[in-house]
Amino acid sequence: MTNILVLHGPNLNLLGIREPDVYGYETLQDVDDALLQHAAAHESELRIFQSNHEGRLIDAIHEARNWAGGILINPGAFTHYSYALRDAISSVALPCVEVHLSNIHAREPFRGTSVLAPVCLGQITGFGWRSYLLGLQALIEYLA
Ligand code: DQA
Repeated sequence: MTNILVLHGPNLNLLGIREPDVYGYETLQDVDDALLQHAAAHESELRIFQSNHEGRLIDAIHEARNWAGGILINPGAFTHYSYALRDAISSVALPCVEVHLSNIHAREPFRGTSVLAPVCLGQITGFGWRSYLLGLQALIEYLA
């Protein structure tokens, strides 16, 4: 059994109503349900957590040291400037996959930079809610 922490950053609780032309009409619950279904079919267990607060995300990453084999994260806007999140990921040294619903490289220039990407295994961006599924699949296969 592989244990994975799934983290959703700020404003992702509003998925489905937040700029649906950019992020789609699926809700966060829809995304979580798809992830849980995929995990169950691949002998993986997920703990899923959303927060709008940087410190809470950092605490969850620290706690993951005690139980998780890897982390799947959509850091939201923290992607672009949170050195604290980046340091949390490198501190726990758990394999981490970064995902984005939108293609961050095809939007405003500030979104094209991820300060987390250098401490992640890889980044999946631009496939809508399927970015999460692709990221989870990549992480499960890596951990196997
Ligand atoms: C996002 C992209 C970020 O730039 C943005 O701040 C988000 C969502 C995405 O999933 O496309 O909140 O991470």
